[in-house]
Amino acid sequence: MSYRPRVTTPSIFDPFELRSAARGGGVIARNRVWLAPLTNQQSHADGTLSDDELGFLAARADGGFGVVETCAAYVSLDGKAWPGELGVHDDTTLPGLTRLATRLREGGARSCVQLFHGGLRATPSVSGLPTISASAVEEPELTVPLAATEDDLARVIADFAAAAARCEAAGFDAIELHGAHGYLLSQFLSTHYNRRDDRWGGSLENRARLLREVLAAVKRAAPELVLVVRLSPEDFGQAKGLDLDESLQVARWLADDGLDVLHLSLWRSALPTAKRPDAHAIPIFREAVGRQVRIVSAGAIWTREEAEAQLALGADAIALGRAAIVDPRWPERAREGLEPLRPPRTAEELRAAALGEAFVGYMRRWKGFVAD
Ligand SMILES: Cc1cc2nc3c(=O)[nH]c(=O)nc-3n(C[C@H](O)[C@H](O)[C@H](O)COP(=O)(O)O)c2cc1C
Repeated sequence: MSYRPRVTTPSIFDPFELRSAARGGGVIARNRVWLAPLTNQQSHADGTLSDDELGFLAARADGGFGVVETCAAYVSLDGKAWPGELGVHDDTTLPGLTRLATRLREGGARSCVQLFHGGLRATPSVSGLPTISASAVEEPELTVPLAATEDDLARVIADFAAAAARCEAAGFDAIELHGAHGYLLSQFLSTHYNRRDDRWGGSLENRARLLREVLAAVKRAAPELVLVVRLSPEDFGQAKGLDLDESLQVARWLADDGLDVLHLSLWRSALPTAKRPDAHAIPIFREAVGRQVRIVSAGAIWTREEAEAQLALGADAIALGRAAIVDPRWPERAREGLEPLRPPRTAEELRAAALGEAFVGYMRRWKGFVAD
């Protein structure tokens, strides 16, 4: 009788230490399923938490997600991009943030706030302020931003740090810098949006300076928190002027700078990279950052099989966006082997999934999502 070694497929239900032991360890999620950051426009006009936003996130904690992330939350008022966006920009947000962190912990999830500045994608009619970016680049339907001054950048870095300190005081486990999708940090990384010739532009080293300085500042301000950075590895949608090899180098620098978790926003995670059709992003980013940095993969994951395919490629965890919107109990249902629900869903079904009216309205803008 011969024995064949069993090939063990990593399970999304294995516990997950968010920070490697070498970086201090100690923060364990019950599984490897994250709720991706999801803009839902449910906060109050002043950026404070509403019951609808709390209800949406709490239902995902109760439904078994290992890590629950907030939507993109603005750190500076001039970075606010949407009405109903969650704020982390001043101390008036602290009671709501504390309520949220406490409730997510009670639901058994680890919690993470996505720290965000919209740059040229911020909305003056919402924020009441002009927009800033790396350079005064014209973009259809957007106001041309002001090229940020040294003072602007010092203020933005300080705003990220103050927001991180608020998250720590509120009792969150992690913060994520939104370095993806063509918002401020991504605009600085981009050769399309960043046309500066000072120390913040030109070479990749200069274009990555803002992200790295923000990372250093939040690390000092909130040393207890797990530190996550979300990146778009290549151009997709609003993310322009990015190059895979540059993104790999940025990831290497972030790893050197003490990043705990790299969150790759892939949109179509089953596909290889655009630049190298023979390579998938996960193994090449793994090679770049080493084993000490955790990798989370996001993009069109609906089933347990699709999720575990990402783990087999070398990701440590996966994040769900649309599947988690339709199904707050996705992890429990996947464990029972149930088929995930798919859009289109009726507004009634989305309300039953703990989406408030504002979020249902927002999802109508995503083609084919809401059946009316
Ligand atoms: C309604 C909606 C809102 C989103 N808001 C954010 C956001 O605030 N921050 C962010 O980084 N990504 C955001 N995304 C992208 C998701 O986090 C995720 O990466 C993307 O939807 C792909 O995953 P999926 O196919 O599982 O939905 C949003 C996506 C959707 C559908």
